Amino acid sequence: MSSQIDHLLTESRKFAPSAEFAADAVADASLYERAAADREAFWADQARDLLHWHTPFTEVLDWSNPPFATWFADGELNVAYNCLDRHVEAGDGDRVALLWEGEPEGDERRVTYAELTDEVKRLANVLGDLGIGHGDRVAIYMPMIPEAIAAMLAVARVGAIHSVVFGGFSADSLRARIDDAGARLVITADGGWRKGKVSPLKPAVDMALADRNGSGVQETVEHVLVVRRGENAVEWTEGRDLWWHDVVPRAAADHVAQPFPAENPLFILYTSGTTGKPKGILHTSGGYLTQATFTNRVVHDIHPDTDVFWCTADIGWITGHSYVTYGPLANGATQVLYEGTPDTPHPGRWWEIVQKYGVTILYTAPTAIRSFMKIGRQVPAKFDLSSLRLLGSVGEPINPEAWMWYRKIIGDKKAPIVDTWWQTETGAMMVSALPGVTETKPGSAQVPLPGISIDVVDEDGAHVGTGNGGLLVITEPWPSMLRGIWGDPERFVETYWQKFQKQGYYFAGDGARLDDDGDVWFLGRVDDVMNVSGHRLSTTEIESALVGNEAVAEAAVVGASDETTGQAVVAFVIVKQSYLDAHSPAGLADALRTWVGEQIGPIARPRDVYIVGELPKTRSGKIMRRLLRDVAEGREVGDTTTLADTAVMSVISAQVK
Ligand code: WT7
Repeated sequence: MSSQIDHLLTESRKFAPSAEFAADAVADASLYERAAADREAFWADQARDLLHWHTPFTEVLDWSNPPFATWFADGELNVAYNCLDRHVEAGDGDRVALLWEGEPEGDERRVTYAELTDEVKRLANVLGDLGIGHGDRVAIYMPMIPEAIAAMLAVARVGAIHSVVFGGFSADSLRARIDDAGARLVITADGGWRKGKVSPLKPAVDMALADRNGSGVQETVEHVLVVRRGENAVEWTEGRDLWWHDVVPRAAADHVAQPFPAENPLFILYTSGTTGKPKGILHTSGGYLTQATFTNRVVHDIHPDTDVFWCTADIGWITGHSYVTYGPLANGATQVLYEGTPDTPHPGRWWEIVQKYGVTILYTAPTAIRSFMKIGRQVPAKFDLSSLRLLGSVGEPINPEAWMWYRKIIGDKKAPIVDTWWQTETGAMMVSALPGVTETKPGSAQVPLPGISIDVVDEDGAHVGTGNGGLLVITEPWPSMLRGIWGDPERFVETYWQKFQKQGYYFAGDGARLDDDGDVWFLGRVDDVMNVSGHRLSTTEIESALVGNEAVAEAAVVGASDETTGQAVVAFVIVKQSYLDAHSPAGLADALRTWVGEQIGPIARPRDVYIVGELPKTRSGKIMRRLLRDVAEGREVGDTTTLADTAVMSVISAQVK
C-alpha cells in the first residue's frame, strides 16, 4: 500500500520546457493541430518536405485492403540518395557524418558526407559486380564501424533488402536468419572490439554456412564480403570470400542512384515473438524514411549544422536502423558512432565520449541509465557534460527514479528528457513528448506523436478511459508501419490484427495505463515476451534452446524483474536422471547458461537456472509461468488452484531456496 502512495507522489512531478529551449525547438504545438486537421495531408507534407522524390507521389495512403497498407505508392525515391548524395549536392559534403570511436582508446575516424557517399557508391558497384540488385537479400553481420552503415546504405541504394543480424548473435541465430531471408550475400568483418578484446565474426559466418549436408536447406549465399577490423585470424573460402579492402577501393567511383517505388522493401529485421521462431519484420522505403526522418528531427530536435547526436544503439536493432543509419543521415546530421561497451576500458567511457565530441543529444536505454546509477554519480561527474541539451530514452519503461537521475546527473536539470515508445514493428517512434512543447513527466511516455493515433482498450476493444489500464492499440495506419512478416502473411495478420479485427486496430502486445491527464504509462509486455536490457526475447525461443541440450528433459523460462536489465531470464529446468547422477546441480546450471549463450547469443543467457523436479502445469498441461515468476521474484506464490498437482509449487519453492 505504502509503495502505491509513493508511486502516486512520484507521478505528480512535471517539468515544463524552458523558454530558451522552446524558442529554438524544431517542434511546436501547431504540428498537433495540423495533424489533427488532416492526418494524411500532414504525412504527405512531411514526406515532401523532408525527402527528395525522383517521382513525386500523388497517392498518400491506401488502406483499402487492411492490414496491408501502402503509403506514397506511386512515388519513387532512392533511400541512399536521400541519406547521402543530396547533402553533398547541397554543398554539405564536408560536414562530418560519422564521428567514429573504436573501443581501443585513440582509435577514431571522422567520415564526412562526401567520403561516406564515395564509399557507398563504390560498394554499390561491387554489389552490382556480384550480381546483387533489386529485391535480393543481403545479411549484414558487423561491428559498429562506418563500413556497417555504408553496407546498409549500399544495399538500399541498389534496391536490395538488408537483414542486419546483431553481431552478438550466435552462428545458429545467424544461420536461421540467412535461411529465412534467402540471403545471397553476407557482409561481415573478421571481428570487432568488445569488452577489451576482439570478438570474432567471420568464424561465426563460416560456421553458419558450413556443414549443411543433410540439413535439407538450400545454400543461398554466394559470397561473403569481409571488412578487416579485428585482425584476428580467419579462414578463407576461395571464390566465395572477398576482402572489402581488395574490392571496394578498386571499384568505380561513379554510381547513379536509381529511383525505386516507395513501397520497395528496404529491410527485414528479425524480432522475437511469442513462438520460438523469430519474425522477419518487413519495412519498405518511402513511409519508413518519412517517419524515421520526421521523428528524429522533431523528437531529437536535430539542428543538422550545430548538433552532435549520439544514439547508443547497435545497428542490429531497430533503434540503430532508424536513429543511427536512416533518420540522422537523411537529416544530414553529425553523429557519434561507438564500437564498444560502455565500461571499456573504464566506467566513464561514455561520458568521456560525450565530452570529447561535445555531444548535444544523447539517446539511450533505461538499462544503461540504471547501470550508471549503480556505479554512482562520481563517474559522470569527472567529465564535462555541459554540451548535452536533450536526452532520450527507449526500449522499456523508464522508472521515475532512473528518469530523475538521468535528468539531474546527466542533464544538469536543464536538458529535457523524451521517453519514446515504439517497436521494431512500428519502425519509428509513436508515443513521446515533443521537446520544447510538452511538459514532461518522469516515467510516462505520455502522448502519441502528431499524425499517430493510439488508444488504451479492454479485451473487447473498448476505450478504458483516464485512470484505467488496458492494452495499447494503434488505431490508424502510420507511414513506417511494418508491411508484413517475411514469407508469412498469415502470421502477420494473426499476431497483430486478429485480436481487434472488428475495430481494425493494431495490437502492440503492451499493457498501458492512462493517467488522469490522459498520459500513457507503459506497463510491459502482456504476452510471453521478455524485455531484457531493452531487447525482446521470447520465452519459447529460450525454452527450445534449453530442451535442445541433451541433459534437459523439460524447461520453462520466465522474465523476472531485475534492477539493472529491467527483466532477466530465469529458467526452470528438469534434467534427465542420468545427468543428475553424474553432475552437480551448480555445474549443470552453469553449463546450461553457457549453452543458451552459444545457441542464441549472450543476451539470452539466463541469469538463473534452477534445476527442479517438476514444473507447475494445468490439467491441460499448460505451464503456469505466472507462478514461476512469483518464485523467481521471491514473492509469495499466487493462486495454485488450477494446477493439476497443487503441491508442486511448494516443492519447487523449496528446491529454489
Ligand atoms: C517493445 C519493443 C523501440 C526500439 C527498441 C525496442 C518496449 C520500447 C519503450 C518505452 C516502455 C517500451 C515495449 C515494446 N518499449 N520503448 N519508451 N516505454 N516500453 O524495440 O525490441 O521491438 O521492443 O519494447 O514493450 O513493445 P523492440
